[in-house]
Amino acid sequence: MSMCSMRELVILAALVSALHAASLLTGTDVVYKCQKDQDKIATLEAESFINDHHRHGYKFKFVSQDSRSAEKKTDPCEVILGITLEETECHVVNPKPLDQCETRMETQTKVTAKCNVTISSAEGKAEVKDYNCDTEPASHEILVTKCPDCPGLLPLHDPKGLESVKTALQKFNKESDHKSYFKLMEVGRISTQWMFSGQSFFSQFAIMETNCTNKEAPQNEESCKASCGDQARYGFCKSTKVGIEEPEVECEIYEAKNRTHPMKRPAQFPCNGFAKIPPTIYPICPLRPILLSRGPPNFVRPTGN
Ligand SMILES: *[C@@H]1O[C@H](CO)[C@@H](O)[C@H](O)[C@H]1NC(C)=O
Ligand SMILES: *[C@@H]1O[C@H](CO)[C@@H](O)[C@H](O)[C@H]1NC(C)=O
Ligand SMILES: *[C@@H]1O[C@H](CO)[C@@H](O)[C@H](O)[C@H]1NC(C)=O
Repeated sequence: MSMCSMRELVILAALVSALHAASLLTGTDVVYKCQKDQDKIATLEAESFINDHHRHGYKFKFVSQDSRSAEKKTDPCEVILGITLEETECHVVNPKPLDQCETRMETQTKVTAKCNVTISSAEGKAEVKDYNCDTEPASHEILVTKCPDCPGLLPLHDPKGLESVKTALQKFNKESDHKSYFKLMEVGRISTQWMFSGQSFFSQFAIMETNCTNKEAPQNEESCKASCGDQARYGFCKSTKVGIEEPEVECEIYEAKNRTHPMKRPAQFPCNGFAKIPPTIYPICPLRPILLSRGPPNFVRPTGN
């Protein structure tokens, strides 16, 4: 483990215990007992817990409760809620509180997660024990029947899409007022549309600050390491590339202090087997990786979008 991730772990541990202490202190007088009229408490807890464990792609927002099944167990009680969440426009590096994050419009291809969440009561509070979600982008075939010109999602590693991300990031680094060089953390989504002037790419991507300055970076990108801990700033960019024109790019950079949660180092694509292959979105991964042993990965071939 590198120094960097070690320090992040320590910060994470400190945060977790601080949060725990806070939840005990600010306890309202409501004792959670898995009752039906307390489902709002449980779904709120599920939403924040799932987002705390979701480290790639975009934050998800609760939209509806679809089912509930209570176990006979009473101490501690247990309930399994079926809930639906939708992907928001806030990338996980965006410190904006969830209630200020908009879910996507239909024309941007909604992403929906259907989750079963097991909730228990711990010291009078709702506590998530487990969850498991199916995350799917809306069908492009259905979208084009209503909106023939709407862009469709491309795989996150689409070569031309990645090329548009690369040139957009170069442009941002060249033109930005920030002293540091920012490098790609991950591609958030790429969509495409055919226009009169050729194929266009709409890309969204997260970036992170490195220890290189803007000027020295381009020759030697490999040696530019992401800053970590309290110093690391992240950002989120949207770019548009139409035909052979130069891309347009806009990035917002977030101050390191108001971080939603400590960032893990950029990992490989999470929980393969839970998204259609090739992936166009970041699914909500199961809480317990052991679920992967349910059988061979359920790779689903794309149905032609
Ligand atoms: C981040 O912190 C700064 C300074 O404390 C504050 O002005 C700003 O509103 C915060 N941004 C978010 C998104 O919370
Ligand atoms: C949730 O539970 C229902 C009913 O037991 C089941 O049909 C569905 O497949 C489950 N979904 C996930 C994501 O596990
Ligand atoms: C950035 O950090 C890496 C690893 O610590 C180091 O090898 C590299 O020389 C640093 N680059 C600069 C410009 O400081």
